[in-house]
Amino acid sequence: MDTILIQGGVPLHGEVTLSGAKNAALPLLFASLLTQDECTLRGVPRLVDIRTALGLLTELGAQADWLSANEVTLSARRVDQFEAPYALVKTMRASFLVLGPLLARFGRARVSTPGGCAIGARPVNIHLAGLQQLGAAIRIRQGYVEARASRLTGARIRLDFPSVGATENLLMAATLATGTTVLDNAAREPEIEDLAAMLIAMGARIHGAGSRTIVIEGVEALHGVSHRVIPDRVEAGTFLIAGAITSGNILVRGARADHLASFMETLQRAGVTITPEPEGIRVRGNGRPAGVQFNTRPYPGFPTDLQAQMMALLTLGEQQSSITETIFENRFMHAQELVRLGADVYVQGHTATIQGVAFLSGAPVMATDLRASVSLILAGLAARGETEVSRIYHLDRGYEHIEAKLSQLGAKIQRQTIRPVQ
Ligand code: EPZ
Repeated sequence: MDTILIQGGVPLHGEVTLSGAKNAALPLLFASLLTQDECTLRGVPRLVDIRTALGLLTELGAQADWLSANEVTLSARRVDQFEAPYALVKTMRASFLVLGPLLARFGRARVSTPGGCAIGARPVNIHLAGLQQLGAAIRIRQGYVEARASRLTGARIRLDFPSVGATENLLMAATLATGTTVLDNAAREPEIEDLAAMLIAMGARIHGAGSRTIVIEGVEALHGVSHRVIPDRVEAGTFLIAGAITSGNILVRGARADHLASFMETLQRAGVTITPEPEGIRVRGNGRPAGVQFNTRPYPGFPTDLQAQMMALLTLGEQQSSITETIFENRFMHAQELVRLGADVYVQGHTATIQGVAFLSGAPVMATDLRASVSLILAGLAARGETEVSRIYHLDRGYEHIEAKLSQLGAKIQRQTIRPVQ
């Protein structure tokens, strides 16, 4: 069980380059199931979740090979398995995104339902309702979705909630359906636009990706593609907060201001200096932030995946702040760990109230989920003394070489491997 040790209080300076977006790369990998031709993806981050996704694709019979550090080729010509087992889907719920492509190309799939996770129940009802409207016969047995469809047929689907994963599953499925599909109330995240861009380059006919209404005209088949994954906006936001919380000065290379408008507006309201530059976005911390209030929202609102990181910053606020988490039902588990570092955070229902304190003090803390783990690291970078973050396997799911990237900015951070007592 590795832990990360941080000696806090060092202002971070320099430049850091973003990795490709995990939440874009995962659906892009599964989109390769839609064609028998070879697909090449560039800018793929080396993460545990990516390794899990490649493992699932090879289990299905696809070929997956790394060409270089961040480039992978995929070929789903010889897919002869159509099942995503519970053990896999439970460890990485994004595996559920094989359902749409398998149904569209092979007419069959048996995919475990993901079940809940630390941050919420995370049902898949919107995915299944949409696939049924496309003509799939869906049955749930022993925790598995058993789906059949001789040929999917286009339909007008209104999503009850702009679910990112449901939009991705339905978008991929509709590309090979007969006729036209309209997705109303679709998710608008940049990762949706990136998936649509790759599908269009594969020959799909898609209009409106990134807006509330996406129109897909089904085609007979899709062909191979070479596609670069968009930069990771969540990693970008994480490093912008690292610069702010340590009163440093960092250029985040590759960061796209058009993917972070709501987040940057909130940071600026907190008194942080954010400057878009040709190469990316520069952040200058100016001591303790001002108090702010915000709600997480579906894109283009404030992203739930940056809520924990922003909370870490606001624990040092000059005034009171409050955060309402509207996307997931249990995404404040980092609050109690931040309290261990001296923060004053009070959670009631979906709202966390933060009374800013003058400083944080290092302590041992425990990561509970991917974004919570990085918020504890951010707090540790600012805290006086040493912070030890345990259970950092959560971290490795979503951040590529984060302690190396933070070290090159001047952070005193190191990973410790704790050998179990023999
Ligand atoms: C994606 O998860 C991301 N994961 C999440 O990032 C992100 O937090 C989330 O979108 C919201 O932006 C990937 O892209 C791999 P949703 P997803 O379907 O698709 C409810 C991270 O840290 N819902 O938009 O699972 C659901 O319960 C991860 O990188 C239904 O009710 O999110 C939740 O409350 C965490 N029924 C809300 O919608 C459904 O059928 C948003 O879920 C589907 C979703």
